[in-house]
Amino acid sequence: MGTCWPFKHIVLVAFLALSVSFKAANSDPQTKYITHGCSTYNATDMRDFFNNLNSSFADLRNQISQQKKYFATTNHPVYALFQCRNYLSNADCVSCYDTAVSQIRNCSAATGARVLFDGCFLRYESAIFYQETTPQDGYGGICSSKNASQPTNFQTQAVALLQDLKLATPRINGFFAASKRQLSSNGKDAVYAVAQCIETASPSGCRDCLNITYSNINGCLPKEDGRAYHAGCFMRYSATPFFADNQTTNINPFLGDGGGLSKKTKAIIGGVVGGAGLVLILLALFLWYQLNRKPKKVQKGDILGATELQGPVVYSYRVLKSATKDFSEENKLGEGGFGEVYKGTLSNGIFVAVKKLSLISDRVKAEFESEVRLISNVHHRNLVRLLGCADKGADLLLVYEYMANGSLDRYLYGEKKGLLSWKQRFNIIFGMARGLAYLHEQYHVCIIHRDIKSSNILLDGDFLPKIADFGLAKLLPDDRSHLSTRFAGTLGYTAPEYATKGHLTEKVDTYSFGIVALEIISGMRCNTKVDPDSGYLLEQVYLIFLGSLLIR
Ligand SMILES: *[C@@H]1O[C@H](CO)[C@@H](O)[C@H](O)[C@H]1NC(C)=O
Ligand SMILES: *[C@@H]1O[C@H](CO)[C@@H](O)[C@H](O)[C@H]1NC(C)=O
Ligand SMILES: *[C@@H]1O[C@H](CO)[C@@H](O)[C@H](O)[C@H]1NC(C)=O
Ligand SMILES: *[C@@H]1O[C@H](CO)[C@@H](O)[C@H](O)[C@H]1NC(C)=O
Ligand SMILES: *[C@@H]1O[C@H](CO)[C@@H](O)[C@H](O)[C@H]1NC(C)=O
Ligand SMILES: *[C@@H]1O[C@H](CO)[C@@H](O)[C@H](O)[C@H]1NC(C)=O
Repeated sequence: MGTCWPFKHIVLVAFLALSVSFKAANSDPQTKYITHGCSTYNATDMRDFFNNLNSSFADLRNQISQQKKYFATTNHPVYALFQCRNYLSNADCVSCYDTAVSQIRNCSAATGARVLFDGCFLRYESAIFYQETTPQDGYGGICSSKNASQPTNFQTQAVALLQDLKLATPRINGFFAASKRQLSSNGKDAVYAVAQCIETASPSGCRDCLNITYSNINGCLPKEDGRAYHAGCFMRYSATPFFADNQTTNINPFLGDGGGLSKKTKAIIGGVVGGAGLVLILLALFLWYQLNRKPKKVQKGDILGATELQGPVVYSYRVLKSATKDFSEENKLGEGGFGEVYKGTLSNGIFVAVKKLSLISDRVKAEFESEVRLISNVHHRNLVRLLGCADKGADLLLVYEYMANGSLDRYLYGEKKGLLSWKQRFNIIFGMARGLAYLHEQYHVCIIHRDIKSSNILLDGDFLPKIADFGLAKLLPDDRSHLSTRFAGTLGYTAPEYATKGHLTEKVDTYSFGIVALEIISGMRCNTKVDPDSGYLLEQVYLIFLGSLLIR
């Protein structure tokens, strides 16, 4: 036994030395584990599920290794997405992918899961999620424990670098940037950082996501390493290089104006405030962030929004009350068939729309819960996402994602009339159709909206449409409906067979969709006459249609 020890040691040391030198010389797939999450729901038919998962994973691997892609999605049979940092070699990317797959298999038959490493990110779900960047949960970060050797200087340079990356990355094709910045005192030390969004995000989705990860990663400084993530993006900085010099991105062309301050303002500030002043401002900014950010604990197994069928997040009434400044008039976004809608700002800086439903009957309250559970699991890029709810007395609050550009009707005949281009109009019609097709056919139950109208179509920062209020129409109290049967709809948009006979199929939505499309094309309201002599929109279209037949 005694004679065996030295030999073992030698072998071990030799092996370690070999593997270390191999790594240093050739490759590093950067498989340092950061976080993972498994959905709490398991597939019912395991055999089927694993078959499907395997074929989706095989498809992804093929795209990465054969087509040498750094970002890949697959729609069939399971929705899956993979992304590598662009500075990795293709071989390292494939190697990171293999590690990710073996790690994610630890989620067993969970219907959704994700795993994040320094070098790559893998996620799968049973519903499409490629546009999702900032779900309610799923953000976090990790910091190293050691401070950088020149903490103040390091922090100043790192904040400036990360800020630049936050600004530039959403404007760069492919949403990836790697950059470094010298610490001023000597030419050797530097801070290195990358930022990346999933390529299927919209520029505004990328921007919002990086805004959140930026404030999280800021909390790591002046530690020498930090990482922060959200569902759709990733940021990392370090005092040691983790990408080759020739992999840096020239971000200067993307830093131009657009961050809020105009060039002129910046020039003025730059002129007035000298170098030392700038450092003070950055420090003050940092302190402000420190004071304003709530401690964000990073939990192991943090479910990163592998949200499938998890039911809605239940908010406390108090939180929503303060987020909307006590439902103040100034925060009011509008009034719908169901109650008032307010803009709110959650403590993590995310904007939300809070819909307040008042005086609901007991029947509605009972139906409410199952309905909310159902619709909170609907994720589609053309459907407004329900983030959660709260309940207090007769009031029910629904928390939705916030849509920067408000409702479509304002752009058709409201205060923003005439601002939409034809391309935007086309995209809106197309997006609405996709959202409706999802509600009717692709979600696991058919949801009939019943109240499609232009005030229910909301526009995000890029003027892409999302349908609001789906799944709620049947909860409308009887006394507010237009007819004595439980008719839920808006006159002018409602299919005749539903309005008169209460006959309800998904074709009801298709009819209303057609009316909204006519409004988008004509810029006219469907239910009021432009001038007293002309007919309603539909009559006019009908006449034109007849006219065109006669001309033939
Ligand atoms: C899902 O499966 C895992 C492992 O097979 C098990 O530990 C877990 O309890 C299951 N979850 C549910 C909700 O059935
Ligand atoms: C899926 O792939 C894993 C790993 O390659 C394998 O162990 C498992 O048997 C496969 N499952 C099916 C159903 O093909
Ligand atoms: C999977 O989980 C087991 C125990 O739960 C653990 O021992 C193993 O290391 C995990 N595998 C990976 C690749 O993380
Ligand atoms: C690291 O830096 C922070 C902020 O400058 C300081 O509060 C902390 O004491 C430092 N920690 C160590 C171990 O030096
Ligand atoms: C970048 O530099 C490395 C050596 O550090 C070299 O192997 C690689 O080919 C270079 N890549 C490019 C794109 O120039
Ligand atoms: C970025 O987040 C901060 C809070 O962290 C918020 O005040 C600010 O408005 C956000 N900026 C953008 C452009 O969303």
